[in-house]
Amino acid sequence: MTFDSGLAGVGAAETVLSEVGGEAGRLVLRGHRLQDIAGHRSVEWLIAELWRGFAQGNLSEPSLRRDLAAMRVAVFDEICPRLPQAARLAPIEALRLLLAAVPDDATDLPLRLTATMAVGLAAVLRTRVGAVPVPPDATLDHAADLLRMLRGTPAAPKAAAALATYLLTATDHGLNASTFTARVVASTAAGLASSVTAALCALKGPLHGGAPGPVIDMLDEIGTPENAEAWLDAAVLRGDRLMGFGHRVYRVTDPRSDVVKRAVESLGRDLGRIRFAEHIERAALAVLARRKPTRSLQTNLEFYTALLLEALEIPRDAFTGVFAVARVAGWIAHALEQTAEARLIRPQSRYYIGPLAEAA
Ligand code: ACO
Repeated sequence: MTFDSGLAGVGAAETVLSEVGGEAGRLVLRGHRLQDIAGHRSVEWLIAELWRGFAQGNLSEPSLRRDLAAMRVAVFDEICPRLPQAARLAPIEALRLLLAAVPDDATDLPLRLTATMAVGLAAVLRTRVGAVPVPPDATLDHAADLLRMLRGTPAAPKAAAALATYLLTATDHGLNASTFTARVVASTAAGLASSVTAALCALKGPLHGGAPGPVIDMLDEIGTPENAEAWLDAAVLRGDRLMGFGHRVYRVTDPRSDVVKRAVESLGRDLGRIRFAEHIERAALAVLARRKPTRSLQTNLEFYTALLLEALEIPRDAFTGVFAVARVAGWIAHALEQTAEARLIRPQSRYYIGPLAEAA
């Protein structure tokens, strides 16, 4: 039996959806290298690619754009009655509530779950500050409409393009913890809404999708470039994890980090903040190389994601919710692929280390 308590190096699925090349720093999404499509292709294009062969319907980019937009409009009315309760929760927990209300036998589940995430996040964030939720605009693409629903005014093209680049970059990433969770639940034939709801719960943790908010907390606490080295060194010596660094699979820089960093730069604002973040990144990498010499701990997706979402004026406690808006399409593709595989995922514990019952 192959044993690893964190399943490192253990294969648990065959997939046509994405490949994470840890040594090469490569991410392939349905046959396309991330660097070749980020900034050139739309979110809807990638969703159509990932769902093709698994979800029903005409999965071309234009039809998916049209159908997803129509579904955003449809779910808005369903979500509104739940907003007062949802808006009392942290944004990621509010999404959990809204997803949990979707029946496993609802129609058009892939589109419904994807739309619920974007419409729900925007409506919850507005409701909690006393603003009226903004209904979706079916003429816009997913990223531009999300920003518009969040702000109440149309997004600048640069901002919508930067968010679209992030959403595409974060859509799918091999057998990460939340995607694995989606596949485990799908393997029991529990249904797609249940699989996606479970995946969201796995995403919430700071070791996975919960990292980018704390990245900004870290930058704030460090405060000045001069303080960086000492602050970071003390944190690692205390045994703290530096948020936005390290990855189970990548041994070189996470390729998503470069893509998202370029998206932040494309906004052309607050260059001082970017230069400060670069300084912290260099200092963190130096501290990690010195204190954890046997590991190769590099920058991951979450470090520059935090800067991008901050620049887009998204509240930091909603960063994980935006990640979920992106990743939901990947969870759906994997859950459907697992359903087609029709095999229960059921590993074994290797050693029993509990007490033995006394003989009668
Ligand atoms: N800061 C400090 N030390 C770290 C970090 C980090 N960010 N990451 C790993 N380490 C250290 C561990 O403390 C451990 O040290 P030790 O051997 O002296 O005990 C060693 O590196 C190995 O750690 P593991 O937990 O075995 O590494 P794993 O591969 O399981 O961790 C993880 C991956 C969870 C992402 C980790 O690097 C981490 O906690 N990073 C910070 C949180 C973060 O950025 N999460 C986002 C990940 S990307 C994503 O989910 C989209």
